[in-house]
Amino acid sequence: MELLPYRREDEADLIRFLTRVDLTLSGLDGVGIRIWIDRGDDGAIRGTTGYELSDDRRHALIRSVAVDPSGRREGRGTMLARAALARATADGARTAWLFSRRSGPFWQRLGFQPADRDELAHRLSNTHQVALFRRTGKLNHEIAWSRPLEVMRR
Ligand SMILES: CC(C)(COP(=O)(O)OP(=O)(O)OC[C@H]1O[C@@H](n2cnc3c(N)ncnc32)[C@H](O)[C@@H]1OP(=O)(O)O)[C@@H](O)C(=O)NCCC(=O)NCCS
Repeated sequence: MELLPYRREDEADLIRFLTRVDLTLSGLDGVGIRIWIDRGDDGAIRGTTGYELSDDRRHALIRSVAVDPSGRREGRGTMLARAALARATADGARTAWLFSRRSGPFWQRLGFQPADRDELAHRLSNTHQVALFRRTGKLNHEIAWSRPLEVMRR
């Protein structure tokens, strides 16, 4: 898997991909968001991963972790999630957070536990995803997860 940083030229493909996997599009080219893309031999996006950092860089909101439906259950999602966690740790983050209503068991395997969504929204209030969820009223329907980053447990 070769992860390349998102560039402006990827925008149309990325929007199409994230729409297909039903993830949010907020702030894709905004300040503070980091996204990487894995493309297959045919050039099509196979998976994406990324995060946004809090202003003090201690907290990372993992987002845009997705695998094309045709390539799931082959370990790709785990690799993409681990890449985001490792890079967020290298960026100085000490706690990873995320919203996921559908993939809780996947994140639990990666050491995440249920978290307080208001705390997430407070710690990561500067992020595009939290701003979007507040604006649309979606925040109250989301499920939050978190894990420490000091030790990569698995
Ligand atoms: C979640 C997602 C990234 C997992 O990708 P994947 O490539 O299938 O993940 P892996 O193959 O590494 O899965 C590892 C294990 O996690 C578990 N798992 C994966 N997806 C799961 C899901 N949706 N629900 C429950 N468990 C899941 C399985 O136990 C799997 O092991 P198994 O194959 O032995 O059963 C993928 O389903 C996806 O893109 N979903 C849509 C986007 C999304 O919801 N992203 C999360 C929010 S950022």
